[in-house]
Amino acid sequence: MQVVHTKVELRAALKEAHTTGKTVGLVPTMGYLHAGHASLIRRARRENDVVVVSVFVNPTQFGPNEDLSAYPRDAEKDSALMRAEGVDLAFFPPVEELYPPGFTTYVQVEGPMTATLCGRTRPGHFRGVATIVSKLFHLALPDRAYFGQKDAQQLAVIEQMTRDLDLGIQIVGCPIVREADGLAMSSRNVYLTETQRAQAPGIARALFEAREMIRDGRRDAAAVVEHVKKTIAAIDSAAIDYVSMVDPRTLGDLETLSGEVLIAVAVKLGRTRLIDNIRVEV
Ligand code: PAF
Repeated sequence: MQVVHTKVELRAALKEAHTTGKTVGLVPTMGYLHAGHASLIRRARRENDVVVVSVFVNPTQFGPNEDLSAYPRDAEKDSALMRAEGVDLAFFPPVEELYPPGFTTYVQVEGPMTATLCGRTRPGHFRGVATIVSKLFHLALPDRAYFGQKDAQQLAVIEQMTRDLDLGIQIVGCPIVREADGLAMSSRNVYLTETQRAQAPGIARALFEAREMIRDGRRDAAAVVEHVKKTIAAIDSAAIDYVSMVDPRTLGDLETLSGEVLIAVAVKLGRTRLIDNIRVEV
């Protein structure tokens, strides 16, 4: 695995692939890699000649009171996982490499898609995500880019940006990977205390119950959302940010259910904000 830290090195390392028509798969990450990231890398490995993974804790997607400085980092462990998964090229840029002094250009997906769900409590978050992802796209020029469905809103925003800006990159959304007890894998799970870690799978259980309600024929979105809210509210130390039933592509609210529906939640357990979701075909 080749490891690079600068834009010049990244472009040079990919030059041969681009000029000889090899396909490039990009997996953008913020590091502290886990089995969820490994599943993205494995899919990219299957579908492309060259696999690039970026590891960059992107400051512009963190709000002033969020966990930028505390965000977990472990470059050695990340490199070991990437090597084991057969990654060709790892990109570990320092912050000044992607945001040099005088940087002022941002990419903003406008409208309800970024104002709803996490956009309500994390203003500016998706502007930061769209900006860094479009920079990485321009640097690596991938054929395909891989993102987890756990960040369902991020995935919808990146798909929208890719369509709107004619980037010609295939966005591949990959299924959520869960711990044995149902908790969705996330780098932030490391923040949970022992008690919170024991409570956290209750969030996924509420979503699984909602899926069963829909499979059993419930078509009233408000009733299903209410059930999820009640179940999560019963978890000690849980503070609900949102529980919403939306169209996974537009993120618009659904009143009655048909087609593919996304039930998305954000919940704080103590100081740790967790997101999770489930897709159900109606
Ligand atoms: O999902 C993440 O880890 C980040 O939001 C991403 C896509 C790497 C952009 O910083």
